Amino acid sequence: MKFFRLLLLFVFVQVSAQQGGMWIPSLLNGMNESEMKNLGMKISADEIYSVNHSSMKDAVPQFDGGCTAEVISDKGLILTNHHCGYSAIQKQSTVEHDYLTDGFWAYKMQDELPSAGVVAMFVVRIEDVTTKVMEGVASLSSEAEKQKKIQDNITALTNSLPKEAWQENKIKNFYDGNQYLLFVTETYKDVRLVGAPPSSIGKFGSDTDNWVWPRHTGDFSLFRIYADKNNHPAAYAADNVPYKPKYFFPISIKGIKENDFTMVMGYPGTTTEYLPAVAVEQIVNTSDPAKVEIRDATLKVLDRFMRKDNAIKIQYASKYSRIANAWKKWIGETKGLKKSNAVAAKQKFEAAFQDKVIKAGKQAEYGNLLSDFEKNYAEIKDYALARDYFNEVVTRNAEILSVGYKLYQLEQLLSTKGEQAFTDRKNTLSTGIGDFYKDYNVEVDRTVFEQLINLYATKSPKQFLPSVLNSIDATKVTTDVFDNSKLTSLNGFKELLDGDTKTIIEKLNNDKGYQLVKAMADAYSKNIAPKYDEINLRNIATQRTYMKAILELSPKSARIFPDANSTLRVTYGKVKSYKPNDGVTYEPFTYLDGVMEKYIPGDYEFDVPQKLIDLYNQKDYGAYGSKGKMPLAFIATNHTTGGNSGSPALDAKGNLIGLNFDRVWEGTMSDVFYSPEICRNIMVDIRYVLFVVDKFAGAENLIQEMKIISTKRKR
Ligand code: ARG
Ligand code: GLU
Repeated sequence: MKFFRLLLLFVFVQVSAQQGGMWIPSLLNGMNESEMKNLGMKISADEIYSVNHSSMKDAVPQFDGGCTAEVISDKGLILTNHHCGYSAIQKQSTVEHDYLTDGFWAYKMQDELPSAGVVAMFVVRIEDVTTKVMEGVASLSSEAEKQKKIQDNITALTNSLPKEAWQENKIKNFYDGNQYLLFVTETYKDVRLVGAPPSSIGKFGSDTDNWVWPRHTGDFSLFRIYADKNNHPAAYAADNVPYKPKYFFPISIKGIKENDFTMVMGYPGTTTEYLPAVAVEQIVNTSDPAKVEIRDATLKVLDRFMRKDNAIKIQYASKYSRIANAWKKWIGETKGLKKSNAVAAKQKFEAAFQDKVIKAGKQAEYGNLLSDFEKNYAEIKDYALARDYFNEVVTRNAEILSVGYKLYQLEQLLSTKGEQAFTDRKNTLSTGIGDFYKDYNVEVDRTVFEQLINLYATKSPKQFLPSVLNSIDATKVTTDVFDNSKLTSLNGFKELLDGDTKTIIEKLNNDKGYQLVKAMADAYSKNIAPKYDEINLRNIATQRTYMKAILELSPKSARIFPDANSTLRVTYGKVKSYKPNDGVTYEPFTYLDGVMEKYIPGDYEFDVPQKLIDLYNQKDYGAYGSKGKMPLAFIATNHTTGGNSGSPALDAKGNLIGLNFDRVWEGTMSDVFYSPEICRNIMVDIRYVLFVVDKFAGAENLIQEMKIISTKRKR
């Protein structure tokens, strides 16, 4: 009995240790493949990535720069998140056709809506080009020279390495600059909107439910890729044809159980898993709390105005979502890092690392890395904090400052690039700025500004403040700026930019709002940025050597994955419940019943369309229901981050079973420190997606295109 318990424990430790990490699809052979098979995978690494035949990677494009999609038919039909297609859906909407509110479905291909600007990028092949990128670098002495040489090599190689005329070469840096990989890609530019559920399904729960489990969001939308007659990328043309993919995913509606194998392929954006303890300590205690405080103040004001004025709600809804998304993530991240004792765990790792350095006799090379980090991070702390304040307050949350900062950059352009550049930028600004003012409310901004300028003056490091912000009276500054500045309206803005260059510069410099932005931006570029950049460059160099040492001194079997960098990755794990807190366990599945539990008629976050209520009442779930219920979302231990939105969730055989769209709040620290105990990604169940397409929208035309695998009936 005892022996069996021990064996079980051993197996458990092995299994839980095998999760986490975002792996390079071309390098899965070996350790990853055997881990994946241990976890239950039934296919081979060669079916995921191959250059010799079609493979799964051929069905996973990056969508619109920041998300992921997957091909689900031989006619170029792709699936991504509703929140990834959001701006494309919004752009198609007019007063008569509000596709965000009502949804959109193309029942014939001719009805699909060209979405200018939306692109889908496929990876053709991946090659290691480290030696070529590092040529001539080692002999250089300063970090700045090395960086420049690397950049020059990358530019030269990008232009010279072989590719077809319709492809692109991209070289990306892995393991903090210890490895460089070439990605040959194909970017399709004619992408059309095919289907989107109403926001009351696609964005159900909105910001209240964002980052939270249990979840009930049908976060999906459908697009189609079009190609020229040779199946190559082409700009939109009416006679382009549906793209013929090298591979597309079969869809399984057989259902999933806890502990089933899952994997996710996609384009995760950024993680920082190998930071030293000092850096993590600064995230937890300094940077996250400062950014959270600034956004907290902003969001409270927006919420107050949005609740009492519908026009303001429409103007600020998407800004609110954007500001709240990172805000909520940082709060969860801080809590998770504290709770999992990430700093202590890093310190323990570092003590062991230092031992290994000594044992390997590598003190000369690696012995000072940790003390260098200590020094660098102590030195950069105030600069980094001041930079956070500047970025958050000036460039993001106080709108009058953000718009003023655009004009500051315009004035800078005149001195750096000359009058033609100035005029060009001025013209782009003047045409584009209408969109900004359309959603601008001066009372809202005034209230936000007063709070934020006060935070800036009292909480950002004092030594770098411009003199105008030394001992300020926030109310007085606010009145001064908002009663006098022309930046508070579109007409005022246009007036400022009217006239010849000299007149414009004069007018700008006489404007109270502009004067304040300029004082803040000058102080930033003089007192903060140069020193920050200098220390940061040292940190980058130290981090590169640290990563090199970790790779060199770890056993071959160690699970060391490169940080996310918006390149194609594979992560794998199991469908799994979790315990966020003592006495609480979250089940891994949700159902349509939960939508009805959360339903608040007329509410902008929790309203439910009548048709969905009817289907629920009739339990009319077609082939997609399970045991009388409609499965909706599920969680697993896949290690994902921003950019993985829309990523395919696949079963042991590589069939599509869901669509990644979020993580659980308690586990958002996985960007810095992954723990299989509480880190979970959230996926919408493919059966719910198909139920909405088929039963809710009646878009059988789309269902016909797909290859659906079910236990109930063969198609
Ligand atoms: N948290 C998800 C991701 O980072 C979804 C964001 C969109 N939804 C929202 N309610 N803001 O990006
Ligand atoms: N919602 C995120 C995205 O847009 C994915 C969730 C995450 O950060 O894990 O990419």
